[in-house]
Amino acid sequence: MASINTTKFLTENCVYHGDSRILLKRVKPESIALSVWSPPYFVGKSYEKDMSFEDWQALLRQIILLHFPLIKPGGFLAINAADILCFKDISMPKIMAENVSRRKIDLTKEQIVSVQKTHPTWNRHKLAEYFGCSEQTIDRRLNGNNIRGGKYQTQTRVFLVGGFIQEIASKAGFYLYDRRVWIKDAAWENSKWHTISYRAVDEFEYVYIFWKPGTTKVNRGRLTRQEWADWGSRAVWQIPSVRSNADHDAKYPVELPRRVIKLLTETNETVLDCFIGSGTTAIAALSQGRKYIGIDKEKNSVEAALKTISKFEKDRCYEVAFPSKRETQLENSATESGVVSERKNLCVHQVQEKNQSNPQEIKSA
Ligand SMILES: C[S@@+](CC[C@H](N)C(=O)[O-])C[C@H]1O[C@@H](n2cnc3c(N)ncnc32)[C@H](O)[C@@H]1O
Repeated sequence: MASINTTKFLTENCVYHGDSRILLKRVKPESIALSVWSPPYFVGKSYEKDMSFEDWQALLRQIILLHFPLIKPGGFLAINAADILCFKDISMPKIMAENVSRRKIDLTKEQIVSVQKTHPTWNRHKLAEYFGCSEQTIDRRLNGNNIRGGKYQTQTRVFLVGGFIQEIASKAGFYLYDRRVWIKDAAWENSKWHTISYRAVDEFEYVYIFWKPGTTKVNRGRLTRQEWADWGSRAVWQIPSVRSNADHDAKYPVELPRRVIKLLTETNETVLDCFIGSGTTAIAALSQGRKYIGIDKEKNSVEAALKTISKFEKDRCYEVAFPSKRETQLENSATESGVVSERKNLCVHQVQEKNQSNPQEIKSA
């Protein structure tokens, strides 16, 4: 039967439904060893469709400011972010270029200009007739092809997110401690422009690690010698992207937060993700024996996260109790041990839906 409590602070090992700008104020001060998350990227995903660039900047500013009091002194804030590769800039001059590689007809601007000099009264129609091509081709050669996005669309450029994040984190009181580069799968499919420009495809992101002043325990024993050599001391992490985005369209691979968590926290410490999405950070934290707190404003994300966490816990309970048995066998043997009740205790989550300043605790056990 469900029981409802009103708690002052958010509880560990729970996922909350609500806006982090409100719910972060309910995280116990100095209780978080590490907050690791990936914010909306301002690339037009469904959960950010109503957001202007200014809204997006304000969201990040507010979230980072709210983090300072809740991180333990000596603790960390790790932000996974990518640069915006297609940032619309109305002040940007048109990129006009002759796209030689895409030409169907071998006609240059110089040839047309030369004919125009001899026949200054000829219009596009006459020139097209003369060269045996369309008027559009004449226009394109004379006025240039817009290299990206059509002649009449706003031009796009690259926006470096790191500089902006560093500035607001510094203002909040953090110091940039480290940065890693995550090499993911190259997004050829999403990078149509690579065929019509000199730009590179999207194939890496960053993890910016900020430190809150205070005593930081350095425990080299957190990683094995091999782990230090493979990734602990390495700036570049090669981790395949998540291939199936069925439950959430912007998941990061569990290996990414797992490494950050293993490196920067001790067993039993609490890890926060205020953009929990499908629950990846929670799985990473649990797999390393850490606690988590997750928040997301989308009901679908919270449901996906709860499902992922429940499955993880269920699999883990079974593995611990019956290391040699297959899950399918166990599904049919509910009375075999105390595993079922143990699982119920592990899978208690808070889901707050209406009054965000007063979250309800819903115990499912
Ligand atoms: C990039 S996704 C995170 C994906 C997650 N790391 C995963 O692996 O599934 C960003 C998430 O932030 C959530 N979000 C956006 N704005 C929010 C806000 N103001 N408060 C809480 N969650 C928010 C979105 O619903 C989305 O699930």
